[in-house]
Formats: sequence, structure tokens, C-alpha cells
Amino acid sequence: MCGIVGYIGNNAVADKLMDGLKNLEYRGYDSAGIALNDNQKIEVFKAQGKLANLKAVLLQNNISQNPSHIGIGHIRWATHGAPTVENAHPHISNDGNLVLVHNGIIENYKELREKLEQQGVHFYSQTDTEVAVHLFAEEYKKFGSLEAAVRSGLACLKGAFAFCIMHHNEQDKMIAVRKNAPLIIGCNQNENYIASDITALLGKVKKVIYLDDNEMAVVKKDSVIVKDIFGNIVLKKSEEINMKADLIDKQGYEHFMLKEIAEQPIIIRKILQKHVQNNKIILNEDKLNIDWKKVKDITFVACGTSLHAAMVAQKVWENWLNIPVRVEAASEFIYQKNLLNENSLVIGISQSGETADTITALKQAQNLNTQILVVTNRLDSTIVRYAQSVIGLDAGVEISVAATKSYLAQLITFYWVGLYVAQEQNLLSQDEIVSLLESFEKIPEQIEEILSHKSQIEEIAKQIKNYPSAIFISRAFNLPTAYEGALKLKEISYINANAYPAGELKHGPIALLDENMPVIALLEQDETYAKLISNCEEAKARHAFLIGIGGEKLSNIFDAFIKTPKTLSCFSPLLMCVPVQLLAYYTAKALNREIDQPRNLAKSVTVE
Ligand code: AGP
Repeated sequence: MCGIVGYIGNNAVADKLMDGLKNLEYRGYDSAGIALNDNQKIEVFKAQGKLANLKAVLLQNNISQNPSHIGIGHIRWATHGAPTVENAHPHISNDGNLVLVHNGIIENYKELREKLEQQGVHFYSQTDTEVAVHLFAEEYKKFGSLEAAVRSGLACLKGAFAFCIMHHNEQDKMIAVRKNAPLIIGCNQNENYIASDITALLGKVKKVIYLDDNEMAVVKKDSVIVKDIFGNIVLKKSEEINMKADLIDKQGYEHFMLKEIAEQPIIIRKILQKHVQNNKIILNEDKLNIDWKKVKDITFVACGTSLHAAMVAQKVWENWLNIPVRVEAASEFIYQKNLLNENSLVIGISQSGETADTITALKQAQNLNTQILVVTNRLDSTIVRYAQSVIGLDAGVEISVAATKSYLAQLITFYWVGLYVAQEQNLLSQDEIVSLLESFEKIPEQIEEILSHKSQIEEIAKQIKNYPSAIFISRAFNLPTAYEGALKLKEISYINANAYPAGELKHGPIALLDENMPVIALLEQDETYAKLISNCEEAKARHAFLIGIGGEKLSNIFDAFIKTPKTLSCFSPLLMCVPVQLLAYYTAKALNREIDQPRNLAKSVTVE
């Protein structure tokens, strides 16, 4: 979603801002802008669309010659108002002296706008953000100090925000403020940055300060002072960045998505090495501060791909742990009655750790006194604040908007955690655990085998690309994989794809089947197999283009078949997800789509 970068130092500020914004591009955006606080006046440059358009605007204006040492930049993912130049950030006050960028949503913007308009303020955009700039500018008239103006203005704002603010009369500082939206300060000698995501600062600074909610930082070239909203100084420690800059490099791959799919065996091996030793599951450095004896029910809350990972966990954990497990889309959980209490465990899953729906769901779970476990790929993210226990995914930074390696890392995590609990609570015998581990540990090499057949999958994708829609079907453990396959295909190829429990096909969706509808069946050779084959026959009888994914090709009805290695049914989602990721990838590639940054999507969805 939106991204913020601010810079104060001795270097060419426009380059620094563009560099930082480039590293945030993966979040998804539809306009961009920067503001430079140079000696004569604040200058704002904005463009609709990608950073290349903003770069062209900067070139036209000879910005490399600009002597500025302080500036702010933003990429915007439109929420309030279309992705136009007017609505792009930075937003500037009517007197041209105060300028800011904002992530989040100001919920009471309509009342504030009305009030400010009555006071004679002129609005030029449809954004909620613009009220903040005019509000702070009005306060500046009273206080004559940026810090005091922002502190006073903040008291009127409801919602979520991360701001980076400058004033023309105070060219020695930027103000950073956060409430429910991430913001960090990157510290170097004689230069400091503000950013909404650490990736903006990779390779630029070694240390960062994480702001907490309701904190404000006064960031100068050679100092950073953090205060609470009442103006009291808060002593903050800076932390070393432990991510490498080359994490946001394609390393020879055409797209980040393909690179991230290819990384999956390495990631799984690493996780397995960390948690499986001598036929036992161990925690290693991870902590699971959950009182399992108390847990009578488990609820997963998540969105999108993370929700599908939860669906797999539900099926596996109910088998292993013998406990009722519920899966709720976080956006539904927050508007329904949840019969949870101190005997409930709520598990929030979020790759980014910034998904607003999931965070709100966890806040509500806190109020119901449940135990809370968070599983995230970003231990530096907002969601960890709401957890009693946190498990990191160890998947490395995921740049492609379409989640792949983080999904597999989520699955692997639920398998090892499930096995660990079963082992510690004696819910599975040692023999059962040993035999499960035998199959579990083969997964990385089996994924490598699937990856080695990617050219066959590419050929099938070249056929799928010719259809306007597709249907995925499966049963049991792989139903969530079918949902995930359909989501991936929709997200990056824009082909309308839906997934159904195979047995549901005949209850309605079958009406859609004819020679123009590919049906992709995920087949597990377990007790569901015969029924699934019957469902495939039903599709074939309606002339659907039928693709099978699974173990042996035991039937000749398929127009195309992708073979996956043999494993236990419960582990098959770990293998089946790889061909569906590749099918989506190659279909999108054949259609020449913008694979890593699909239209309308954002990497972390920070609004409800
Ligand atoms: C995945 O491909 C999607 N981009 C999206 O569904 C994503 O999984 C969802 O927005 C949840 O994100 P999170 O895991 O960061 O919370």
C-alpha cells in the first residue's frame, strides 16, 4: 500500500527519496510524489502511475540541480479519491509552507473538512489526508512551531496515520508521527531518514528506531528526539538492521515471484533444520508461550493467502490435536459475535504483519481475554504488539505482491507447531511422529522435483491463458490449495478463477461448464480420490478442458496432467501449492501481465 520516505542530510535529496521509494514499489501503488524543502520555497512534484512517470517530471524540472537537503516522498495506493495528480501526496497547505505525506486513513475527515472550509481553507483534492495538512497549518498560525502545531492538531484526528511533515520556516527538521501505521527512523552520521517500511532503508542505514503508537520524532540531520503526544521525551534504542540489501534484488530471475517460488525448498530446509532434530520437534530459539492445557478451542484469523494457510492448518490440527479449530476471515471476525474466552486460543496469521483487518481482529480477541499467537514474516511489524507469543516465518522478505514463499513457510510452520504440540501433549505416539517426520523431511527435495518440471507447467499455462475463466476443484486437505490456486490465478493473470469443493460442483457451478471452461482438479490418492475422479468425469462430460494435478495419472480423462511426488495426504498441500503457483505465474507471463505488481493490489493492506 502507501509508502513514506523522508530524508535530511547533505546528499542530493531527490535521489535519496526516489531510491527509497523504489524499494517500496513492491507494496503496490498508483501515484507518487516528492516535496523538497529548499531555500526559496517548498516544491512539490507528483505523477500519476509508476515512479518512472515521477522521474520524468523531475527531469523536466531539472531536479538533480536542486540544492535541497531535506525532503519527503510518497507512493499512494488510492483509497479516498482516484489515483490522480491532485490526490497524490505530498499535500501542501494553502500558504505553501507546510507539507506532508500520510499512510493510513483519517476517519473523521468529512467533519474536519467542513469545519476547515468554513474557516476559508481551500481544498484541492478528494483525499482524507488533505485535512491533516490544513489542520496542522492552522495550528501553526497559533503556535509558530511545527512540533507544537502537529501535537495540537493530532488531538483532532481519528483513525490511523503515519505522517512525515516539514515546514518551510523550519528547514532543519522533519516530524514523524505514528498511530496504528508503521513508521521508523533510519539513523546515520550526519543524515537521517524516515520510512514506513525497513525495505526503503536497506543498504542506506545500519540502525533504525521503531516508533510506537502515539509517538512523535523530531528528526534533524544529526539528532532524533522521540516524544509522546504530550511532549515528554521517550528514550528509544536504535536497533541494528539484520536484513541484507540484496534481498530486494531479482538475482537474475525475470520476476520476484519466480525467484520466490524457486526459493521455497531452501526456506523449508532451513525451517526443518531449525525445528526437527533426532526424530523430535524442537522449538530452538522460538518461544511458544501458550498454556496449551487451557486451550479448549482454536480460532485462526487471517486474510487472503494467509487465510488459506489457516484452512490447511485447521484440517491438519483437528486430526493431530483433536481440538475444534475455526477459521475466520479477519474482516468477518471483527463484525460478528465471537464466543471466545480465556480458554480460547486465537492465532493471527499475516505475512506482512500490517494487515488492518487481522490486527483489529486480534485487538478484539485481546478484549475477550483469549490467548493470542501471531505468525508473521515480519517480526518488526505492528501485529506482534498484540501477541502473547510470536512465531516468525523465516521466509525472508517477500517482494512480489502475490504471496508464494510466505504461504509455504506458513504451512510448514503450522505443521511443525502442530507436531510439537502433539508431541508435548502426548496427542500422537512417538512412532506416529517418527513416521510423519519421515515424510515431512522429504518435502524440500520433492518440491525441487516439481520445480524441475516447470517447463511442462508453462506449456499448460499457455493454454489456460486463452480462457476467460477457470475453476479449481479438490477435496479434503487440498481444498484450501484449490482456493489458493484460484486466488493466485485471479491476482496476477486477471482470469476469473473460482474454487469449489469438488462435491459442490454438481450443486450449481456445473452450469458454467462447457468447452470454454478449464477445470483444474487437485487429486490426492486417498479416500477422496474415487469421488474426485467422478467429479472430473462430470466436468469432462461437459467438454471442459480438464487439468489434473496429483500423484499417478490413473485415469485417461485428463487433457493435461501435472505429476506431483508421493507423500502422506496431510502433507500434500505442501507439494500441490507449487504447481498452482507456477500455473498462475506462467499464465500471467503468457498474458504479459505486470506479475510482481498486479493492478489494484497492495502487498500490505493497511486499511479495513
Ligand atoms: C496474496 O497473494 C495476496 N496478495 C493477499 O491475499 C494477502 O495474502 C492478504 O492481503 C493478507 O496479507 P498478509 O498475510 O500480509 O496479512
